[in-house]
Amino acid sequence: MTTEAIHDEVRAHYAQAAIMATEGACCSSGEEIGPELYSALERAELPEAAVLASLGCGNPIAVAELHEGERVLDLGSGGGIDVLLSAKRIGPTGRAFGLDMTDEMLALAQANASAAGATNVEFLKGHIGAIPLPANSIDVVISNCVINLAADKPAVFREIARVLRPGGRMGVSDIVADDRLTADERAARGSLAGCIAGTLSFGEFEAGLAEAGLVDVQITPTHLVTDGMASAIIKATKPGPDGRSTQLNAGPATGSKPRISLDLLPVAASDGATCSGDGCC
Ligand SMILES: C[S@@+](CC[C@H](N)C(=O)[O-])C[C@H]1O[C@@H](n2cnc3c(N)ncnc32)[C@H](O)[C@@H]1O
Repeated sequence: MTTEAIHDEVRAHYAQAAIMATEGACCSSGEEIGPELYSALERAELPEAAVLASLGCGNPIAVAELHEGERVLDLGSGGGIDVLLSAKRIGPTGRAFGLDMTDEMLALAQANASAAGATNVEFLKGHIGAIPLPANSIDVVISNCVINLAADKPAVFREIARVLRPGGRMGVSDIVADDRLTADERAARGSLAGCIAGTLSFGEFEAGLAEAGLVDVQITPTHLVTDGMASAIIKATKPGPDGRSTQLNAGPATGSKPRISLDLLPVAASDGATCSGDGCC
């Protein structure tokens, strides 16, 4: 499939999801999918439409450790749930950017931001493989179930490394495949737009981030979404100005540690009650 064909398929899927959310008909009701991944307190902070439009497979805010005044970028921001939660944590001196390629999602996110009265947020149209922001301008990159949808994942990793300031960090949720699964085996488990067919394996994710120059890579699976695939939290940092890791007591990258066996993870609800009926989204 060409890059354009991938973008068209994914955009059509999420345009429809945004329209459903706007009509109050979307999206997930699985216990390990969408709004249920956020605490009741987090959900209470937001307009109901923003919560209902959640299509993620984790909660990057829970691990991003955001601070007052930081500049945050959410890759594939959808209805804006993680941008709006970030905006509250970084306060009026910070800025939260949401980047999405789907007009209908951008309109939904903007409406949710207005309903939330958020003034420190900005939604940008574009591709996560060509981020329309300057180099070294972002403290924290977050994302929720989007990297698996990207046509050119090395470009996404390069762009994350480019926009992060030296010492900046990323904390994203995504679906990751067991290293043993071939590309065909991944594709047999679900669609591209449903966040399954385009997943990277643990090893591919680690290697891609390292290749882009990011360090302290940690991939922690949280729950199984289908046979051999788990939702995971992926963290990494950009080396500081002296080229060294800025993480105090950073442990070895996950590649050099035994991973949690996917068989031991809790299983995601798989009642098919999602927009697409497969995968996370
Ligand atoms: C699974 S939804 C997740 C939305 C949001 N992160 C959340 O947690 O609710 C994927 C979103 O990423 C956007 N997206 C997918 N591929 C993209 C790309 N290559 N560039 C920009 N946005 C993309 C889609 O338009 C959609 O809004």
